[in-house]
Amino acid sequence: MNEAIRPGPESLPQAAVAPQLSVVVPTFNERDNVTTLYRRLETALAGIPWEVVFVDDNSPDGTWDVVRALARQDNRVRCIRRIGRRGLSGACIEGILASSAPCAAVIDADLQHDETQLPKMLALLQGGEFDLVVGSRYIEGGSADSFNKQRAGASALATEVAKRVLRVKIADPMSGFFMIRRDRFEQLAPQLSTQGFKILLDVVATARGELRVKEIPYNFGSRLHGESKLDSMVALDFLGLVLAKLTHDAVSLRFLLFAMVGSLGVFVHFAALFIALRGFDLPFAVAQGCGAFSAMTSNFILNNFLTYRDQRLKGFAILRGLLLFYLVCSVGLAANVGVAFSVYAQEPIWWLAGAAGALMGVVWNYAMSGLFVWRK
Ligand code: GDD
Ligand code: MN
Repeated sequence: MNEAIRPGPESLPQAAVAPQLSVVVPTFNERDNVTTLYRRLETALAGIPWEVVFVDDNSPDGTWDVVRALARQDNRVRCIRRIGRRGLSGACIEGILASSAPCAAVIDADLQHDETQLPKMLALLQGGEFDLVVGSRYIEGGSADSFNKQRAGASALATEVAKRVLRVKIADPMSGFFMIRRDRFEQLAPQLSTQGFKILLDVVATARGELRVKEIPYNFGSRLHGESKLDSMVALDFLGLVLAKLTHDAVSLRFLLFAMVGSLGVFVHFAALFIALRGFDLPFAVAQGCGAFSAMTSNFILNNFLTYRDQRLKGFAILRGLLLFYLVCSVGLAANVGVAFSVYAQEPIWWLAGAAGALMGVVWNYAMSGLFVWRK
């Protein structure tokens, strides 16, 4: 073909132009919002090669179905439908890793974030001076007027904790609206937590001051349709994230919750043992067995509800999971006693041997539960 008439990149169809920006949108029950968001992105990003990846956790309202319909009309739209997993942070990570532009933005589907800021954020990243641009409610010109008193207070408190405890330098680490250079994100990704809501805080805390960050103000608006998924469990996730980052990731949020549930199980064990002995006059060995079974059962229920709430077992899988959990914990108990005995044989300090056994037990139970009971 003659050089002069070969089409330049500007005359190629949209699909052939490499995207400069990947917009990642986590969704859960956002059926009525996604089309509006897509149209607004189209307007806001006119002239910029972009793509959008929706990451939907199998929304009961069929959000993924609406996104698929959009994707059939416009191949800049993609839909990742995840089954058996829940979580805003995990969805964002997966979306960014599945996209391909040199810059990736995360924006909520409910139109509370301001998509008209995206071109400005992209220009800031492309200028080469910054690695991360954060949409901030807490700098001059930004606001969160749609918050009620309670939510405003919780947000302010979490922001203070993040700043003081994790020494995060930015004004709005709780924001869910940001844009980051892909290469920087990919470096951090292996250390990020997939649980919880606070992906930006995790990114900033994990980078430990290594990212060049720019904050730009925006107004956090009201939700268009549907309701917020933020609940009291999100606070727990937040505390877990802070603890994990404080310990330099030595302790994961999941492990912390698992160990917490296990400690609670000790109380359940003693309560059941006491009731079996005193209330039912059972022989000690039987009463002890009752205690162990009660503790394992309550641990399983709490772990399914809390520790693994993003992979919660439902229906028939609960029974199968419970039986496997009994099995895992029984072997864990044997490992616990075995380790305690061998430590005691070398160094007859009862509390040291006991602690070593308990640690062995919890690590075993945790590792094996992740492999067999709540496997992904
Ligand atoms: N895939 C997936 N999985 N998406 C989720 C999940 C989930 O488990 N939970 C929530 N989302 C999606 C929602 O569908 C929405 O698009 C977005 O994540 C934000 O969820 P909301 O439930 O609307 O949260 P919010 O408005 O209360 O809080 C948001 O804004 C705050 C301020 O920027 C979040 O982005 C917060 O992290 C942020 O602090
Ligand atoms: Mn929202």
